[in-house]
Amino acid sequence: MGKGKGYGKTILFGEHFVVYGLEGIPAALGVTTTCEVKPIDGENGYNLIDNRPATPGYKEEKKFEYSALISRILEYLQVPEKLEITLGGDLVPASGIGASAATAASLARAISEEYKMNWNDEQINKAAFEGETAGSGTPSGIDNTVAVYGGFLVFQKNLAGGANKMDLIKVKKPIEIVLGNSGLTALTKEVVGDVKKLKESEPARIGKVFEEYTKLVKEAQSALKRYDLKKVGELMNKNHSLLQQITVSCKELDEIVDTARSAGAYGAKLTGTGRGGLVIALTPGKELQEKVAKAIEAKGYKASRTVIG
Ligand code: MEV
Repeated sequence: MGKGKGYGKTILFGEHFVVYGLEGIPAALGVTTTCEVKPIDGENGYNLIDNRPATPGYKEEKKFEYSALISRILEYLQVPEKLEITLGGDLVPASGIGASAATAASLARAISEEYKMNWNDEQINKAAFEGETAGSGTPSGIDNTVAVYGGFLVFQKNLAGGANKMDLIKVKKPIEIVLGNSGLTALTKEVVGDVKKLKESEPARIGKVFEEYTKLVKEAQSALKRYDLKKVGELMNKNHSLLQQITVSCKELDEIVDTARSAGAYGAKLTGTGRGGLVIALTPGKELQEKVAKAIEAKGYKASRTVIG
């Protein structure tokens, strides 16, 4: 039997700004999807046993996306026979945490192990990207790269259409975080569209926000490399304020951010699309993590405890 795993992801810095070609910093979460493969009778294809702890309705909703993803990877890796594929792990699939990329990475690793292909991370990443392309259209490559390598990434979209920049930042040890859930969902396309309109209607003011972010993300990279977590937290707070200025936060996200900071988080900001979804709070150490998670829960929101890096 071949085994593999892939990491989930979160955005530490740069949602929305990355759309305009500025650098962003996504990070691997300490939750993973695992995959086991074993050959069964049959010439090709697969039987899927999906034991991932998904929210109700998720697996049914994503059925076609996942079947395209799996078929593409089997084809790309030229698997010569039928497989039983068992997915598991502690990553709870939800939008914005790179669940399909984690699956793709875990499957490619499991196949490489089963058939003694000895693929390195770069080859696994290419296979996972192939799977993502079949499953979800035109991915940037952020999710599969984080799913394969873990750690932090400096990501920059190439607006001219060439390869995107993806540099890994390795840190000395993973950092505890809390993800607070607003319980609301927003459509990425709509929110991204509103930012575009705002940018066009107020070029001077919004241009300044973009300039500030450009400086901030450089400082964030050097703070992460130094493992200066106080500074990283401070920059997350600033990043949240810039996101408020481009109108992608909302009352619930702001409440979670304020609650996390009051409970001692080094920093807190919305993560992902905004106007709903999640807040990431930087809470080094188990004790602080628990304190912040409990404070968020006391306000009636769900909170999950994990690590980044
Ligand atoms: C959504 O998770 C991140 C956005 O920056 C959109 C994107 O990068 O495609 C809001």
